[in-house]
Amino acid sequence: MLASALLAFVATSHAFSIPPSTYRARQITKTSQLLPAYDYVIVGGGTSGLTVADRLTENPHTTVLVLEAGSFPNPDDVLPVSDGGTRRQDNYLYQSVPQTHLNNQSFYVILGNMVGGSSGINGMMTARGSAEDYDRWGELFGRGSKHDWSWKGLLPYFKKSISFFPPPADLANRFHIKYDTSYWGKSSAVDASWPSYQYPGLDPLLSAFKELPDIEFTADSGAGSAGVYWFPTFMDPVKHERSYATNGHYSNVIRPNYHLMADTPVRRVLLKDGGATGVELKTDNSTFTIKATKEILVAAGAVHTPQILQRSGIGPQKVLKAAGIKTLVDLPGVGQNFQDHPEIGAEITRIHPNAHDLEIDASFRKFAEDSWSANRTGPYSIAFGNIAGWLPLTSITPSRYRSLSTALSAQNHAAYLLPGTHPTVAAGYSAQMRGLAKAMLSRDVVFARILLNATTGAVGPVLNQPFSRGSINIDPADPFGGAPVIDFNGLSNPVERAVMVEILKFFRRYHYETSLKKLAPNETAPGPAVVTDAQLDAWLPSGVTPSDWHAAGTAAMMPLELGGVVDQTLRVYGVKGLRVIDGSVIPSLPGGNPCHAVYAIAEKAADLIRSNA
Ligand SMILES: Cc1cc2nc3c(=O)[nH]c(=O)nc-3n(C[C@H](O)[C@H](O)[C@H](O)COP(=O)(O)OP(=O)(O)OC[C@H]3O[C@@H](n4cnc5c(N)ncnc54)[C@H](O)[C@@H]3O)c2cc1C
Ligand SMILES: *[C@@H]1O[C@H](CO)[C@@H](O)[C@H](O)[C@H]1NC(C)=O
Ligand SMILES: *[C@@H]1O[C@H](CO)[C@@H](O)[C@H](O)[C@H]1NC(C)=O
Ligand SMILES: *[C@@H]1O[C@H](CO)[C@@H](O)[C@H](O)[C@H]1NC(C)=O
Ligand SMILES: *[C@@H]1O[C@H](CO)[C@@H](O)[C@H](O)[C@H]1NC(C)=O
Ligand SMILES: *[C@@H]1O[C@H](CO)[C@@H](O)[C@H](O)[C@H]1NC(C)=O
Repeated sequence: MLASALLAFVATSHAFSIPPSTYRARQITKTSQLLPAYDYVIVGGGTSGLTVADRLTENPHTTVLVLEAGSFPNPDDVLPVSDGGTRRQDNYLYQSVPQTHLNNQSFYVILGNMVGGSSGINGMMTARGSAEDYDRWGELFGRGSKHDWSWKGLLPYFKKSISFFPPPADLANRFHIKYDTSYWGKSSAVDASWPSYQYPGLDPLLSAFKELPDIEFTADSGAGSAGVYWFPTFMDPVKHERSYATNGHYSNVIRPNYHLMADTPVRRVLLKDGGATGVELKTDNSTFTIKATKEILVAAGAVHTPQILQRSGIGPQKVLKAAGIKTLVDLPGVGQNFQDHPEIGAEITRIHPNAHDLEIDASFRKFAEDSWSANRTGPYSIAFGNIAGWLPLTSITPSRYRSLSTALSAQNHAAYLLPGTHPTVAAGYSAQMRGLAKAMLSRDVVFARILLNATTGAVGPVLNQPFSRGSINIDPADPFGGAPVIDFNGLSNPVERAVMVEILKFFRRYHYETSLKKLAPNETAPGPAVVTDAQLDAWLPSGVTPSDWHAAGTAAMMPLELGGVVDQTLRVYGVKGLRVIDGSVIPSLPGGNPCHAVYAIAEKAADLIRSNA
């Protein structure tokens, strides 16, 4: 990931004193403390699980139990500069199967395994993506649907899910940070705020965007449009600590009806007469059952939710049969439609002053350390940066976006899926690609993220609309003990490759056809020997990483005939009393980072559940 020598350096170079976190809310540590039954049992105490638990228990008569596989995080891991992803030893760490289109390389999959889930280790970048991304979610179900998952239907939940704090006035003036509070709320205990420092080295990077044609500077990151914009960090505005599901939706929520049990992996959901009745845990050597009188809500994240459903007998019959699991509900979409945002590993330049100067310039480093220890200000209050180009294809390649869109429309989409893909899943993919072909013509849909951090000039681009779809299934040899079998099927669609080539060319124009050229950019990847489109294309299999840690889509909210797993109330098709409420329901990733979308989905899920929709 972007994580880095710098962050490791910062994390180890000085000790912070943090008051020990108290986790004041109710913890269950022994099965004997459990109620005989709960209204709702939530599987997974991560980003979405804790959000929904918090909302449902606002009603004092509703009992909720959250079961979380991981343990409570060490409070030291919640500092913005501390990159929990590299510091915590007990995150999930898997390897994908060798990737056919990426020189047979395997890639790491990292996820938060703790109370708070991936919100506890992520890069803390907020970003919603484009309004049209959510409109496409709605369109998969046709118009006039009762539950509105379009931008209009989700905007109230984006606002509800995060509290916005404006940037410090001096920084806003100095760096022209625009924002519009009408896209934000102030009612959540999960905060979005700003570091107290930005590197002057950002100036030339921003100006360079202004020198290129067709690039808009958007008024707010939450406006749902594309362009160059600033975005806040998931952290509190005063202590500059990570703001995430644990401190936002659990630690300070003291309610007798909200129970949480950590270190408790769920094996499967139990079904009786077509309805979910409870969950099965493994404690030491025996199994233990917990009952839910209303519903089971699965929130184990896009990698583990399909695993839990498949172990429970809900999934593609072929996969279940191979693992020796009896099919209770043949649902071909479970574990399919897996997607992530690929990173294109281009690397260009260094400019000053930058984050690297912390290591080499003693006076800058002293300033950084003094400001942080005095009042938590200065460069250490920056997480992964707050400014990026979020560019539509129309800006990336004004001359080719139309022909690329036509090429995608003309494709036999199913040919680019994994062998043996179920026809309904293939139909869903085709429907998504038809929507994407239209999005390729829009000035308001983000296709590439070019994150500006003053160190390298700009971080290697991320493709924000993935065209590839893979799968995550149980290990047929060991469905209960084995790791999930993760196949990105990365770089499988030729139009995706062609779009990446255009993004690489844009990245070069940005550095070499603007005033940045004066700063002597030095391209180390793909490198000066890689020139023509064909050469750039040939470089991709060695230069692309199929993940920006944004796994999604494996229990997609789509019609059943399009390979969907849940309907628009997030209920699993064919099972009563079972919903999925996490990032697995995302049908197609938005052109932003997904965490804010996951919080919004969870807030909407809570309303659907409360109204018994
Ligand atoms: C390293 C990294 C960096 C990222 N950076 C960003 C970023 O900067 N901005 C952004 O927007 N997004 C980012 N993301 C993505 C974002 O954090 C996730 O999309 C989001 O947190 C997913 O939320 P979730 O509720 O679906 O799953 P999670 O938050 O992952 O929650 C799932 C929970 O279920 C638990 N669980 C799993 N299996 C079981 C089981 N069998 N029984 C009980 N519990 C179980 C897990 O331990 C976990 O706590 C990043 C993710 C990672 C991993
Ligand atoms: C990848 O592995 C397959 C199967 O082992 C092999 O046929 C193919 O040549 C390999 N490809 C590369 C680029 O190494
Ligand atoms: C669980 O089983 C293992 C192997 O059978 C045994 O060594 C262990 O003592 C058992 N643990 C408990 C808590 O019963
Ligand atoms: C924070 O501390 C630094 C270093 O002592 C000081 O220069 C700065 O003015 C302080 N800022 C605030 C907001 O208190
Ligand atoms: C900036 O990017 C570089 C290279 O990717 C990385 O090493 C560094 O950690 C980043 N800096 C910050 C503050 O995120
Ligand atoms: C560019 O970077 C490479 C790798 O760091 C280095 O070897 C080379 O000398 C640099 N070239 C210039 C012109 O700075």
